[in-house]
Amino acid sequence: MKMKAGCSQLKPVLLIFIFNLFFYASYELTELQLCELCSGTVLNVSTVGQFCSSSAGRIERRCCWRHDNTSDREHIIGLDLSSCSLTHIEDLQGASTALMIDLSLNPIVNISNSTFQGFVELNYMILPQDIVCPGGNSSWEKVEVNGTNRICEGQKDMCNQTGQLSINCPENSLCAPYGPGFFECSCADNYHGYKCLREGEFPTLQVFGPLGGCTFVITLLLWVTQRRKAKSL
Ligand SMILES: *[C@@H]1O[C@H](CO)[C@@H](O)[C@H](O)[C@H]1NC(C)=O
Ligand SMILES: *[C@@H]1O[C@H](CO)[C@@H](O)[C@H](O)[C@H]1NC(C)=O
Ligand SMILES: *[C@@H]1O[C@H](CO)[C@@H](O)[C@H](O)[C@H]1NC(C)=O
Ligand SMILES: *[C@@H]1O[C@H](CO)[C@@H](O)[C@H](O)[C@H]1NC(C)=O
Repeated sequence: MKMKAGCSQLKPVLLIFIFNLFFYASYELTELQLCELCSGTVLNVSTVGQFCSSSAGRIERRCCWRHDNTSDREHIIGLDLSSCSLTHIEDLQGASTALMIDLSLNPIVNISNSTFQGFVELNYMILPQDIVCPGGNSSWEKVEVNGTNRICEGQKDMCNQTGQLSINCPENSLCAPYGPGFFECSCADNYHGYKCLREGEFPTLQVFGPLGGCTFVITLLLWVTQRRKAKSL
């Protein structure tokens, strides 16, 4: 079946998009709130502290900030929430630009699969020993348990997996990493997403639509380990 879509068919998509925008906006902690989630500052002897000074970053409360090359804005490149008495982690999206996150020495019970979705730069995590690395071991170059900590090092590129599970973006779309265990398929310019939609057999589908105009990009997200788990059951 061939699909043809005009602006009218995009309306439900846009409504969902707007709903998501507000829904998440009301929950999302701002970058600053995240840095002030618990007392104290990043100690300069800590892993994040050392990373920050070697990256020419600026420490403020529990965050390390650095200016972006391309814009004038400062972004969080390091987040140190160790010893914060956190029992669960809900929203860290304000730190999605982070390269290093330390959540050690917290009584965290579990962390949702999607917490680190979009954290494309994340390359070093320190977690309590009992918490698995986001996306599972297969999403990281190296996972090790060191005392009471679990260290996840080197985020793997999910678009470049040659292993047993062959996951590919649909034809005419481009694959891009989208955080540990996630990848993102964006339909190539001339396809406007229909091809991706028709051929996609993905468990989750997210649609981002620019407000105004008819063009939109379909984004398919796949939680690789979940799929792998489902397969091995
Ligand atoms: C660590 O930080 C303190 C103040 O927070 C500063 O006085 C000290 O010089 C710093 N040490 C190093 C090695 O940067
Ligand atoms: C965390 O674990 C509890 C039970 O141990 C469960 O009810 C809850 O859904 C889990 N939360 C997440 C985000 O996985
Ligand atoms: C993940 O890696 C850690 C550390 O190497 C290991 O202890 C653990 O058993 C691994 N988990 C799985 C599911 O392979
Ligand atoms: C892709 O995978 C190959 C083999 O696993 C590796 O040598 C190469 O560096 C990877 N490329 C990227 C961009 O990660």
